[in-house]
Amino acid sequence: MASQMSERIVQLLNEIEELKARREKEIEEFRVRYLGKKGEVTKLFEEFRNVLPEQKKEFGRKLNELKQAAAAKIEALKASLEEAAETPECSFDLTKPGDACELGTRHPISITREEIIAIFNKLGYSLAEGPEVEDDYHVFEALNFPPDHPARDMQDTFFISSGKSPILLRTHTSSVQVRTMERRKPPIRVICPGRVFRNEAISARAHCIFHQVEGLYIDKAVSFADLKQAILLFVKEMFGESTQIRMRPSYFPFTEPSTEIDISCNICGGKGCNICKGTGWLEIMGAGMVDPNVLKASGIDPEVYSGFAFGMGIERIAMLKWQVRDLRHYFENDVRFLREFETSL
Ligand code: DAH
Repeated sequence: MASQMSERIVQLLNEIEELKARREKEIEEFRVRYLGKKGEVTKLFEEFRNVLPEQKKEFGRKLNELKQAAAAKIEALKASLEEAAETPECSFDLTKPGDACELGTRHPISITREEIIAIFNKLGYSLAEGPEVEDDYHVFEALNFPPDHPARDMQDTFFISSGKSPILLRTHTSSVQVRTMERRKPPIRVICPGRVFRNEAISARAHCIFHQVEGLYIDKAVSFADLKQAILLFVKEMFGESTQIRMRPSYFPFTEPSTEIDISCNICGGKGCNICKGTGWLEIMGAGMVDPNVLKASGIDPEVYSGFAFGMGIERIAMLKWQVRDLRHYFENDVRFLREFETSL
């Protein structure tokens, strides 16, 4: 009798342990089956009457443990069912279209730089680069800026070290002209994009860091007409087929003659508006025929070769193309500004 009963207790404990329910109804059935008036556990309590007095203590404890285990299991099943109801098995609608993943956009300066490079690539210009930390020789001296020449003041320089040939942050990408001529023999046709630095107060129209693209073409019998043609082709691709150019005489130490180039205002088509300040023209770059002294300094014979160079600010080109009014926008990384260029990807 006693051994039968203890076997039954173990059996029921195992059974109860294994119980699983997916519905409340099933849990209620379990309760009735084990703890109800005619339930299995209740029946054992009735049989307990017949247990020998010396065994009562042990069986009483085992029976109570069984009853508690059954009650605890039923509570646990109820709790897990409630929890499952709060978090349904599949809480999302799999047929719903997904949320679009937010993509970044390329920066307008990068877009413009790539476009300028692509246009000149078509004209046969290859890419050349040079260091941002430069020496005085490559930024000034080899470009025909004599020491103490007032033209140096045109570009307020950040110096890193002073001395005989000071180390500085390049103020223009014209330094890459020099580095290229030192390395290569003509014909040379390069486009040199890069970051430049000037000690300027930051405002809507000036920044201490900006980007330029330098162009250089050296060969036998390169003429001013070739310069004009190359720039005209470039502006038509960049700003539209109807764009015109105007060349004004200017001065740069490294070119002779020198010119500043304007394009017909792409907003008003040259009639005059507030963007072009009523003139119908917008300045876009400096250019000229490479000064013989510059060729000589880099080991190119000016009697055999001639060439032209030009330099433009990428921020300025992008401003004119997209009517950006304030240079500072480029450096703030405000996504609302950057998103405006999404369609230009
Ligand atoms: N380096 C000049 C500047 O930063 C721009 C420039 C003008 C570059 C004339 C040239 C050039 O190559 O021929 O203001």
